[in-house]
Amino acid sequence: MNLSNAMFDVIKHDLEALEEELLVAAESPVEIVQEIGTHLVTAGGKRIRPALCLLAAHGGPGFELKRLLPLAAALELIHTASLVHDDVIDEAGTRRGVPTANAKWGNQISILSGDYIFAQAFRLVTREDYGNYIYHRLAELVGDLSSGEIIQNRQVYMASKDEKDYYSRIQKKTADFLEICCELGCIVSGMSPEDTKRMAEYGHCIGMAFQITDDLLDIEQTEAKIGKPAGNDIRQGIVTLPVIRALKESPDSEELEAIVTDSGMTEDMVTRAIEIVKASGGVEFAKEKADEYLERARKALPESMPEDIREAFLLVADFIGERDF
Ligand code: IPE
Ligand code: IPE
Ligand code: MG
Ligand code: MG
Repeated sequence: MNLSNAMFDVIKHDLEALEEELLVAAESPVEIVQEIGTHLVTAGGKRIRPALCLLAAHGGPGFELKRLLPLAAALELIHTASLVHDDVIDEAGTRRGVPTANAKWGNQISILSGDYIFAQAFRLVTREDYGNYIYHRLAELVGDLSSGEIIQNRQVYMASKDEKDYYSRIQKKTADFLEICCELGCIVSGMSPEDTKRMAEYGHCIGMAFQITDDLLDIEQTEAKIGKPAGNDIRQGIVTLPVIRALKESPDSEELEAIVTDSGMTEDMVTRAIEIVKASGGVEFAKEKADEYLERARKALPESMPEDIREAFLLVADFIGERDF
C-alpha cells in the first residue's frame, strides 16, 4: 500500500533507501523475531511519518540523506511498534491488508515484538549523533503515544461527549507524532528556528486532520479498502468525533448511546450505530473540522521554502483531506 503519489516524487529515491534501512532494522539473530520484523516491514504502509521528516529536511539548507536516514527509519519503526501494541489493545485481526502480529503469533509475542522494534528504533538513532534535544523529543513522542492510548483506554464504552477530550487524545496519539517528524527533519537539515516552528505547526495541524480522517474511514469504509477492520472504534467502545456529534445532535442519540456503552454489542448493533452516525451529519461535521486543520496547516508553511518542497507539502495536505485508505 505504498504511496506512489506525486506528493512524494521529490523524495522517491530517499524512500527507496528507507525501505532497505527498515529491512535491515528488522533483522535479528533470533529466528521468530526476524520473521515477525520482516512480516511487519514488508506489509508496507503509507510511510507518511518518515516521508514528512525527509521532505521537511529537503526544505532546509543542509540536506544529507545519510544523516537523515536513521532518524527517518526510526520514526517509522516507532510507529510500527505502536501499531503492533495498538492492534493487541484493539483486538484487530488485519493491518495494512495482512494479518496482524497478534492474529499470527498471539498477544504475548506481539507485545514483546513491539518492544523489540522500539529498541531497534533507538539503536538506529545512535548511529548518528543527533544531539540531546532530538533524543529528548523522541522519548517525549513515545510518552505521548502511550499516554494518548491510555487516556483513550480509560474512556471506552463511556460515550463521553466531550469534544475537548477527543482533541487532546488525538493530539497525543497522532498530531504530536506528525509534528515531531516535521520538526526533527528541519532541525537536522539546519532550517532556521522560526521556519522550524512553522513546520512544527504544519505537522501538528495535518496530524489532527489525519486522525480525524482515520476515524472517519473507520465509519465510512470497508476493511478491503483500509486494510484493517472497519467499524472497530465503535466495536471497541472508542467514541470518535462523528459519534460525539451524533450523540449530541441525533434524534436517535439515546439508542446510539445504549449501543456504544454496551461492551457486549452485536455486529447488528455496530451496523445500526454507524447508520445513526451517518444520518446525524456527524461525518460532514468531522470533515469540516479536518478541513479547518488542513487550511491552518497550509497557512503555516514557511514562505522561504523551496517551491517544489512547499508544493509537496500542499499536496500532502490535499491527500489527507481526500484520502480513502
Ligand atoms: C495508522 O497510521 C494509525 C493512525 C495514527 C491513524 P497510518 O494510517 O499512517 O498507518 P500506515 O502506516 O499507513 O499503515
Ligand atoms: C492509532 O490508533 C494508533 C496509535 C497512535 C498508537 P487507532 O487505533 O485509531 O489506529 P488504527 O485505526 O488502529 O490504525
Ligand atoms: Mg487501532
Ligand atoms: Mg487504537
